[in-house]
Amino acid sequence: MTSPSTPAGRAVSTQDLTKIYRTGFWMAQKVASLVSCSLTVEMGETFGLLGPNGAGKTTFIKLLLGIIRPTSGQGTLLGRPLGDRRVKARIGYLPENPYLYEALTGWECLSLMATLHQVPGAVQRQRIPQLLDLVGLAQGAARRKTLRRYSKGMVQRIGLAQALINDPDLVLLDEPMSGLDPLGRYQVREIILQLKAQGKTIFFNSHILSDVEHICDRVAILARGELLTVGSLTELLGTGETYHAAGRGGEQAYLASTLDSFTQEGDYWQGQVTGNPYTFLTGLEAAGGTILHFTLDRPSLEAFFVQQLRDRGITQSQ
Ligand SMILES: Nc1ncnc2c1ncn2[C@@H]1O[C@H](COP(=O)(O)OP(=O)(O)O)[C@@H](O)[C@H]1O
Ligand SMILES: [Mg+2]
Repeated sequence: MTSPSTPAGRAVSTQDLTKIYRTGFWMAQKVASLVSCSLTVEMGETFGLLGPNGAGKTTFIKLLLGIIRPTSGQGTLLGRPLGDRRVKARIGYLPENPYLYEALTGWECLSLMATLHQVPGAVQRQRIPQLLDLVGLAQGAARRKTLRRYSKGMVQRIGLAQALINDPDLVLLDEPMSGLDPLGRYQVREIILQLKAQGKTIFFNSHILSDVEHICDRVAILARGELLTVGSLTELLGTGETYHAAGRGGEQAYLASTLDSFTQEGDYWQGQVTGNPYTFLTGLEAAGGTILHFTLDRPSLEAFFVQQLRDRGITQSQ
């Protein structure tokens, strides 16, 4: 979804945002968690901030929320300066390790959060079951369980529900899929896609590339506190599509001239189609060959991500 480009229509806007922690004896040691980070997220966008551990992703979200103050630089959230109290009512936040009251059931947990957000009782009675339904905790045994007996996936899902209790315009999620098994990740991904369909602006941190790839309109890559690149997946990865072909038989001269990285074992061969895929397939038939496998290879975000880090000499996460 595209959106207004006036600053007030922006969900997130930062200019040269920098956070330097001072630690150690006499606070003499400096840790640059975020360096001159300038980033814009439009309303309605689903934006993924990618980066290895220690990149500065959590620091960025905490700065946006006003939980910590920048060393230098500035920014706005929903058109208001960072830390502005009035904005908080329009924001939902799922921390990296959400702390929730373990003695409560999902319903009670949401009811408590709703009360803290001053959501009126009548609205609560309508919204809580809707949210429990959205995150798959409305039915069966899950309804009666206290959070202490929740699985990691359930905790993450109730965490998502509590982030939505005030019906926020902008949702900030810090590593929402981290530590979940494939089913748990799938469930969280589906919830985020539903929020996206509802028109919510979603900003999330992740080091899990495949999740970002499926959900985000745009991504940024952060490493060692620096933004390496920002753009849509098409902008970053290009539209370059290559087809991988594997088959049997056919004139070798034809195969060798139309396939890159052509290899052959007995009658079987494989390679990357260099030209138009349709022309290749019709030509193959004329050359007496049979196609057994034909797949589209898209450039992967993972390969791009690793290359971006390698280009800057980063081969290990912190
Ligand atoms: N309170 C703090 N004091 C000192 N250093 C910190 C503090 N919080 C984070 N850092 C450091 O800042 C860097 C970025 O941390 P963080 O934002 O948590 O990264 P990410 O969320 O991408 O894993 C790390 O090197 C981390 O050790
Ligand atoms: Mg983090």
